[in-house]
Amino acid sequence: MEPKDTHQANTPQEASAVASNQLEEKHPLVIRWTHWINFPLMVVLTWSGLLLYWENSNFRVGLGSFTLVKLFPAAFYEALHLNNRNPEGLAWHLSLMWLFTANWLVYLAYLGVSGKWRYIAPNRSTFGRALGVMLHDLHLRKAKPPQGKYNGAQKLAYSAVALMGVLMIVTGFALWKPEKLGWLAVPFGGVDNAKAVHFWLTILFFLYFVVHVAQVVRAGWSNFRSMIVGYELVSNLGGAQPEPSEPLLRRLSLAAGVTAEAQIRERSIRGFVIASVAAAIVVGTLMWVGSQSGDEEVPRPLKWATEGRDEEHERDREREEQGPIHSASRPLRTEESESK
Ligand code: HEM
Repeated sequence: MEPKDTHQANTPQEASAVASNQLEEKHPLVIRWTHWINFPLMVVLTWSGLLLYWENSNFRVGLGSFTLVKLFPAAFYEALHLNNRNPEGLAWHLSLMWLFTANWLVYLAYLGVSGKWRYIAPNRSTFGRALGVMLHDLHLRKAKPPQGKYNGAQKLAYSAVALMGVLMIVTGFALWKPEKLGWLAVPFGGVDNAKAVHFWLTILFFLYFVVHVAQVVRAGWSNFRSMIVGYELVSNLGGAQPEPSEPLLRRLSLAAGVTAEAQIRERSIRGFVIASVAAAIVVGTLMWVGSQSGDEEVPRPLKWATEGRDEEHERDREREEQGPIHSASRPLRTEESESK
């Protein structure tokens, strides 16, 4: 995931090669917008998921009866003020799940229609290359595996993430209306298993996020900028060539007298201004919605998402009292069970 060199010219030959620097399209507009829209959505969905999960915090890492870590201990919820906020969590979660689903589907549809899925889809050589990347990153192997647009490790990670998003959506909808959409949970072995998959996917997404951001920091500014601006400066000196199996990445032709450096500067200013305005609108909207507390601290603009839920839960509870449990409705976490 290394950025391509922007080379300083030392010799006349190099100078003419540097002069042929070009802008290469790295991330098309749809990929950039869906990527950055996804980020705040995932943050709020994870946070609101924890507000919901507080009620029934029963996953753990361990073997048999031995528990290494309880996910999560009461102290965790208290420290982050995640306790006793179930209705609020539900309203955020059920509102944003629609945006997350729509955004993810746009991303996948674009990958499919544009053929850009080829950049992230693994092939037979990907696993070997991913291992090569790991050994290289750990300084255990000198040779750098071929990069292409994405290296083997990135291909594996990004295709896994694309699939994880789909599983998140499917399990999420199964949990949303278990009576009507419980069939979505059948491949997972039922609603309870779908709930476990939904939870562990969140943990996996979080771990992915930590590694992903660390890799982005490591890869440097030019790589990060390309996810905002769309283009990267490439020189014919030392720049990695796309893999032959991948279609060539589009290069911008420059008008006479315009250098690639001037072009990227101009595009960066435009890109970062738009990104800052968009980020301010998102943060402002989230803060405004959060401040519109109605009953039970549920923000009024999000009320629509949970309308009818109380009656459904009531019906659920009655059914549970009558017969075997087949729904995702949870026993309430009481102060009593809390203190255990
Ligand atoms: C919310 C969690 C995130 C997810 C699920 C995610 C997922 C992804 C995916 C799937 C790609 C590949 C896109 C494609 O070409 O199809 C990608 C690329 C990228 N992401 Fe993220 N991302 C997340 C957060 C972030 C954050 C916070 C940053 C910035 C610090 C970031 C920076 C980048 C960059 C720079 C690339 C391009 C990497 C390259 O070209 O080598 N991402 N991300």
